[in-house]
Amino acid sequence: MTKYVGILTAGGDSPGLNAAIRGVGKAAIGLGMNIVGFRDGFRGLMNDRTFRLDSETLSGILTVGGTILGTSRDKPHKMPIGGKIMDMTDVMMDTYQRHHLDALVCLGGGGTQKNAYRLAQKGMNIITLPKTIDNDVAMTDATFGFDTALSIATEAIDRLHSTAHSHHRIIVVEIMGHNTGWLALGAGMAGGADVILIPEIPYDVEIVAEAIRRRSRGGHRFSIVAVSEGAFSQETAAAIQTADQQRQNAASEEEKKEAKEAIKIIEKQQAGSTWELSRQLETLTGLESRVTILGHVQRGGTPSAVDRILATRLGTACVELIHNDVYGVMVAARGEGAEPVPLEQVVGKRKSVPLDHPWIITARHVGTCLGDDG
Ligand code: F6P
Repeated sequence: MTKYVGILTAGGDSPGLNAAIRGVGKAAIGLGMNIVGFRDGFRGLMNDRTFRLDSETLSGILTVGGTILGTSRDKPHKMPIGGKIMDMTDVMMDTYQRHHLDALVCLGGGGTQKNAYRLAQKGMNIITLPKTIDNDVAMTDATFGFDTALSIATEAIDRLHSTAHSHHRIIVVEIMGHNTGWLALGAGMAGGADVILIPEIPYDVEIVAEAIRRRSRGGHRFSIVAVSEGAFSQETAAAIQTADQQRQNAASEEEKKEAKEAIKIIEKQQAGSTWELSRQLETLTGLESRVTILGHVQRGGTPSAVDRILATRLGTACVELIHNDVYGVMVAARGEGAEPVPLEQVVGKRKSVPLDHPWIITARHVGTCLGDDG
């Protein structure tokens, strides 16, 4: 019996998505399956907007960045429709049935795993692949997109060195990664940043300033500070902890709501904290400081060889699982292999950088300041 397979890409785009689509598509066609793409994430499934996937459209996309299917951050159960937020999972189920799908492959990060799981609970045969430049999906060794973003951010730090050096400046470079520090830590290490600040280690600005002053005293009148977009100070960490404690001890729903709001406000204030950090460092060190926000350039362009191979590997392993009717799983990278992990073990979890991770230990060994007194 011919199997019918749907595929979509959701969440932020990531280098390697097209390699994964190609891997799934070619392997599926090779096994005599029929494959159809849905455009722009879960929105395409809701609106039944498809993309023809055959040997012609799958050709020439391996090296191309972004996703040929388009993507969005839409959530099936919270779709903005005509000014209202609506649960559209049943409508998506109708599309799934209309196409007589045997499986729906969802390519995405942590949020997509959650959304896909919701559809699995509705009765769809779901299988997911882990993609994100943040490398923060739980239960997989790696996510495709990370390696490419790591190279881009590292090259940026390399380039910032010569200008920081020439002007005797501090350059604070903000690196993506959402609430985890994989990208900033990896690029900071590879690019030889003098200070690396990540969300897993709240920083003390005085310690950072002293590390920079020490460099100046040693004759190095410039410093590169690689800061993760989600990094925060020890004061902010304490404020979040207090608000969280209030949330846990709340006697009423009203109090709980207030505490949650307080956390949201603190987190909002965090946006722009890289600029504040730069200003503080200028004051505390007497050196001029500049901010560089790498932003979406880290997600753009051609995927690295490592990401192309990983995405192809996971994509083809996914089709083997469909062939064997294994659903409700994410195809995780395990060493050189791939392994199905039940979605309930993945959703709601985040893979943060463990404080005893070899990268952290190594960074400390070479004298990199991580913003704490560790
Ligand atoms: O999850 C990937 C990511 O690039 C994060 O690193 C970043 O915080 C976020 O997406 C940015 O999202 P958007 O492209 O929606 O602004």
